[in-house]
Amino acid sequence: MHDADGAPHRLHPLLAARWSPTVFDAGHELEPGDVELLLEAARWAPSAGNSQPWAFVVGRRGDETHARLVRHLARSSARWAPSASLLVANLAHRHVEGTDWDYSEFSAYDLGQAVAHMTLQAASMGLFVRQFRAFDRAGVAAEFGVPEHWEVTTMAAIGRTPPGTTPDDTTRGRRALDDLRWDG
Ligand SMILES: Cc1cc2nc3c(=O)[nH]c(=O)nc-3n(C[C@H](O)[C@H](O)[C@H](O)COP(=O)(O)O)c2cc1C
Repeated sequence: MHDADGAPHRLHPLLAARWSPTVFDAGHELEPGDVELLLEAARWAPSAGNSQPWAFVVGRRGDETHARLVRHLARSSARWAPSASLLVANLAHRHVEGTDWDYSEFSAYDLGQAVAHMTLQAASMGLFVRQFRAFDRAGVAAEFGVPEHWEVTTMAAIGRTPPGTTPDDTTRGRRALDDLRWDG
């Protein structure tokens, strides 16, 4: 959970405890209202010009949307994502030059921020999120009739981890704090 420099003692506990599992509890069901809360967190994310250039395909394990999303997972994500309680495909309303479509050139930035909000909201509810790109984006777009000016960007698997599951810190190294400052 912590990098080689030691525990980030003053980091907010939700941030310090967040990690992205590849093992989910296949028996865990979300509570009524959980999906709406997660979407509410995304809804209140900031965005360029308040453009809110995001949309989400949301499938609960066991429902039809979930089954349709699972069809497009890559071999790697198919090993762990289907057992999460929720699968979400994250869509950005993208910038299309030369058209009069409503757009934001910051849509990918804004979508990422909305998913980050959702991720921390999930953490506050005792849920874990693994965001991922290992799926067929064109396949999901075709499956759900996503038009050209929207981009299926990433997916997120959301759920509980089985008791005793811990992060593999050897795969979670971080760049040094000093390395984050651009001195020019
Ligand atoms: C845009 C994005 C794409 C990712 N794609 C994948 C993926 O395809 N497969 C995977 O196992 N993890 C994927 N991840 C998870 C990252 O590997 C993970 O967040 C990173 O290793 C840091 O670990 P942590 O989230 O536990 O801190 C992705 C994360 C993001 C934000």
